[in-house]
Amino acid sequence: MIESTQPITVCAASDLVDSGLAHKLAVTYGNDPTTAFFVRYNGQAYGYLNRCPHMGSELDWENSVFTRAGDLLMCARHGATFKPDTGECTGGPCKPSKLVALKVSEAQQDGQHVVLWWPEGKVAPQVGAD
Ligand code: FES
Repeated sequence: MIESTQPITVCAASDLVDSGLAHKLAVTYGNDPTTAFFVRYNGQAYGYLNRCPHMGSELDWENSVFTRAGDLLMCARHGATFKPDTGECTGGPCKPSKLVALKVSEAQQDGQHVVLWWPEGKVAPQVGAD
C-alpha cells in the first residue's frame, strides 16, 4: 500500500465539463496496471478507479462514462449505473456495490486552475506514466 501526501496534477479544471467526457490516468491497483477516470458532475470534480465492480472491466467507452441524460455513470459493458458523486451502484448486474472513489480537489497551480488527485490506499500512479 502506497501512501502519498503529494497530489498528482490530473488536468486543467476546464478540461472536465459537467457530465462530459472523462479524463483518464494510468494507475496501479495493488499490483495490477489499470486506469482511473476523472469527471465533473454538478460543478464538482470526482475520480474513480476505472474498474466495474461487476466483472472488473473498464467502465468507459472512449472516455465516455455518463448516461445520455448525464445524471449517472454507466459501465459500457453491461450497463451497470453509478451515482457520479458517490460511486454507489444504482442499477444493473453489480448492485449492491460501489466504485473505488479517489480523493480529488481543485486548486490554483502556477496560475492555472487544475484538478488534483491525492493517491491513497491501493490506487497509485503508474511510475513513468503521464
Ligand atoms: S462489467 Fe460493468 S456491468 Fe458488467
